[in-house]
Amino acid sequence: MNKKTLKDLPDAFFRGRRALTRVDFNVPLDADGSVADDTRIRAALPTIDYMADRGARVVLFSHLGRPKGGPDPRYSMASVARRLSELTKHPVRFHGSSGDEAAAVATRGLADGDILVLENTRFHAGEEKNDDALSESFAAAGDFFVNDAFGSAHRAHSSTAGVTAYLKPAVAGFLMEKELDYLGTAVAEPKRPFVAILGGAKVSGKIDVIEALLPKVDGLLVGGAMACTFFRAMGLETGKSLVEPDRVDLARSLTDRAGFRLTLPHDATVAPSLDRPQLAHAVRRDAIPMDEAMFDIGPETIASYARAIASANTVLWNGPMGVFETPPFDAGTLAIAQAMAEATGRGAITIVGGGDSAAAVARAGLEDRMSHVSTGGGASLEYLEGKSLPGVAALEDR
Ligand code: 3PG
Repeated sequence: MNKKTLKDLPDAFFRGRRALTRVDFNVPLDADGSVADDTRIRAALPTIDYMADRGARVVLFSHLGRPKGGPDPRYSMASVARRLSELTKHPVRFHGSSGDEAAAVATRGLADGDILVLENTRFHAGEEKNDDALSESFAAAGDFFVNDAFGSAHRAHSSTAGVTAYLKPAVAGFLMEKELDYLGTAVAEPKRPFVAILGGAKVSGKIDVIEALLPKVDGLLVGGAMACTFFRAMGLETGKSLVEPDRVDLARSLTDRAGFRLTLPHDATVAPSLDRPQLAHAVRRDAIPMDEAMFDIGPETIASYARAIASANTVLWNGPMGVFETPPFDAGTLAIAQAMAEATGRGAITIVGGGDSAAAVARAGLEDRMSHVSTGGGASLEYLEGKSLPGVAALEDR
């Protein structure tokens, strides 16, 4: 890692200093406003507790949801602060603004080891514009800056990028460092064989990541509805399956260039519609009925993908194999998660990109059996595509 991290700051540095820390606490909320999934909060605890244990006054700020550039109580960080207070032994307070004088004043009332959660950064219209004046106001709430918000690092916003112009040192937190290690180093210098599994509905969202991974992998296994765009490129009947007609040529060219490294499903689990799962059945990929659609990879494909994972030493997975929210179309996705958990057990590096695949792993209760489950959705995809992340680029070099 060529960026400074928390470990570059001596232990004695922290006591009494305000650690302005950008976290990604953009978490799902229940209808009553309470936190529905605290994965991202728990993932930031090593950074928060490390600093508070050393006497820092930890000031946390994050966006939550997509409010329209003004305060909106539905997206208040108050319930996030409440959940955090149940997860750390350090005292947690909440302040109802960020990026203004009142927030800066509130940070001055903190004692060593206290934690203060500020209000949603997106309550300011300037946040997403990376507004300079707002960046400076955010910076007034800290004595140094820590970015642990990997999930937001692909955004060039005031709280992720602009703030670093006004606050130094500006270093990466432990979660940020771990994400960059697994999605960067482990993928750039993989233990071979290196197998990637890509799924999801649309090939259009995955083109750049396929292009970036192809030269690196020993095998790239495709699942999800996006396989149907490849089937169409092979001249196969895809029935009522989701196909992107304007990406068929691209799928053909990817297949030609990838050669033996790209594997498509051999069979599919199909049904007349998603709301008739009881009619699900498996067919070979060249026998998808005209009046049915593919909703999952089939059993032969599951077995062969599981074998490929079993023989790999690095496995990277992004995107579900089927409509995993609707059984029995979750079988392919759950089987990949299970095969990866077993691979971890025998010493392979297993990495799950964020978003839907991370949700599927959580649903299967297998999070702890992966080497790394990313907390980033869009950020992990952009990083795997080889793009520079503004939130990382803005941190100080070593
Ligand atoms: C995410 O959930 O992917 C990040 O928190 C970024 O959120 P955004 O897409 O609203 O910028």
